Parts: sequence; C-alpha cells; structure tokens
Amino acid sequence: MNVTFIGLGIMGSRMARNLLAHDGIALTVFNRSPEAMEPLAEAGARTAESAREAVAGAEVVFTMLSAPDAVDGVAFGDDGFVEAMDDGALWVNCSTVNPSYTRTCNERARAGGIRFLDAPVAGTKMPAETGELTFLLGGESDDVDQVRPLLDHMGQKILHVGPAGQGSAFKMLVNAMLAQSMLVYAETSLLGEKLGFSRDFLMETLPNLPVTAPFLKGKAELIKEGDYDTQFPLELMLKDLHLLDVTAYEQQQPLFLAGLAKSLYGQASSAGHGREDFAAVFDYLDKPE
Ligand SMILES: NC(=O)c1ccc[n+]([C@@H]2O[C@H](COP(=O)([O-])OP(=O)(O)OC[C@H]3O[C@@H](n4cnc5c(N)ncnc54)[C@H](OP(=O)(O)O)[C@@H]3O)[C@@H](O)[C@H]2O)c1
Repeated sequence: MNVTFIGLGIMGSRMARNLLAHDGIALTVFNRSPEAMEPLAEAGARTAESAREAVAGAEVVFTMLSAPDAVDGVAFGDDGFVEAMDDGALWVNCSTVNPSYTRTCNERARAGGIRFLDAPVAGTKMPAETGELTFLLGGESDDVDQVRPLLDHMGQKILHVGPAGQGSAFKMLVNAMLAQSMLVYAETSLLGEKLGFSRDFLMETLPNLPVTAPFLKGKAELIKEGDYDTQFPLELMLKDLHLLDVTAYEQQQPLFLAGLAKSLYGQASSAGHGREDFAAVFDYLDKPE
C-alpha cells in the first residue's frame, strides 16, 4: 500500500517509523524542515520535495502537524496537497485541531473527491515510539475499516467516536482534563513545599493517591529531576487550550477554569517555557518571572 506521512515532529517522526517497520507499506514522507526526513530516508522511506509531490499515488495520507494554521497551509495553501491527491484517496488528519475546523477540512476534502478522517491521538512521545497510542476517530465506518490495519501499527486502541469532527471534539475533552490536572498538581505540590514537605516526598507520595490523575506519575519524575525532556511541548498545550476556548464559545458553554488555565500556560510560554514539556508550568508557578 502506498502511504504518505506529512509532519515529522516529536509525534509524526515516531509514528512514521512504526509504519515503515511493516512489510507491505511503501512510505513517502515530507516535512517542512527537511532534516527531519533524513533518519526516515536512511530507514527506507522515500522523501519528497513538497507535500504535493509526497501525496502523488498515495492511497492514504497522514498529517501530524502542530495546529490548524499549519494544516491549512499544507493542505489547502498555494501549494496545498489536497488538490494533488488521487481521486478517492483517504486523508487521515492526526493533528490536534478544533472540531469546527475539522468539519471544514472534511467538507473541503470531500468537495475535491477525497475521503477524510480525523484521528487525533491520546498518548505522548513514548507511546508514539512504542506504537501504543490511542486514536480518537471521527468519520465514516468504511474509511475507519480501511485505515485500521495502519493505525494498528502505531497504536493499541482505536475509538471511533462519531462522524467527522467528533475525533477532534473528544480530543478537546481529553486535553481539557490534562492541562488542568497538571496545574492542580503543580499548585498543590508547591503549597506542600511551603508547608514543610520535601519535593522528593511530595513527588513520590502524591501521584500514588487515588485523587491524582495517573499520568502525573510520569510528570512527577520530570519535576523531581528538574529536567523537562519534552514529550508534549507547553506551547502546544497552550494552542489546545485556545482551541478549547474557541470550541466553548462556539457551543456557548462557559469554561471558567479552562480559561484561567489558558492564561497561566500563556504566561509560562511567554516566560520561555514554550518548547519545554508542559509539566514545566510547575517551574513557572514556582518562580514566575
Ligand atoms: N507531543 C505530544 O505529546 C502530543 C500528544 C498528542 C497530540 N499531539 C499533537 O500532535 C501534533 C504534533 O505534535 P508534536 O508534538 O509532534 O509537535 P512538534 O514536534 O512541534 O511538530 C510539529 C510539526 O508540525 C510542523 N509544522 C508546524 N508549523 C508548520 C507550518 N506552518 N507549515 C508546515 N509544517 C509545520 C513541524 O514542521 P518543522 O519540523 O518544519 O517545524 C513539525 O513537523 C500537534 O497537533 C499536537 O498538539 C502531540
């Protein structure tokens, strides 16, 4: 099967590598910064000079790009790839974007004779590397069935949650919880330090309590080491909180706490933590400067 993967950042590079490891998949890759293509080329992928060139002859095209503006430029811009896709080919957008934008992508793709699925992921750098992501799918069941064997190479769980846009909608909910749980944990731990508990004690005990979200075990390790190896960049969490805000506005559902969370991640990003892991919001709250 001819498959194309566009967007080789933290997540896309690992997902593409897992596809490449399987027989029967001829993989073409494209990334805006060409150096990201080199390790995949060495592992056997074909590289392309542009997104348009990358999709020629592909039955399935994956995108894993940072945000709606990036997807829009690469898919529909002057040199956009959607027009260059074969009739009836399938575009699977794994990037985290807002549901209303996803529905626009679906309409524009279908108007051009292309099938479309939204397939954002839950899981970060390590699950991407080990092929243990969870895919949150929106779209037609037949399209989900076609792409399922490919997703199985990159993930361990596939949740088909509704028509186009619903994968992105569900992803908004997941990241709303993720962003706010991180802040609650950071603030609570900092108060604990003021109350005389050591950071090591707090990072070892709090994550094991039933009141703490399970993902925070990993984040507590990063905080304890003071080393924010970037799994999910803080600036992308800020982007997701912005998309959540847009979505809440469109749905006329006020999200008071998520709005506050957006401001705090925004300030942490402005203070220089943008490309660190989003757990670095702990450092920002510890020393806001
Ligand atoms: N990291 C995580 O833990 C995680 C988990 C779940 C979901 N996600 C979502 O997955 C997506 C990718 O995340 P990531 O962590 O892999 O991000 P990343 O490392 O920052 O990579 C972003 C990718 O988007 C490309 N890009 C950005 N702006 C572009 C533009 N204007 N035109 C063309 N390409 C552009 C980058 O190309 P260059 O290399 O040229 O910059 C890179 O390939 C995001 O939507 C993120 O929210 C991430």
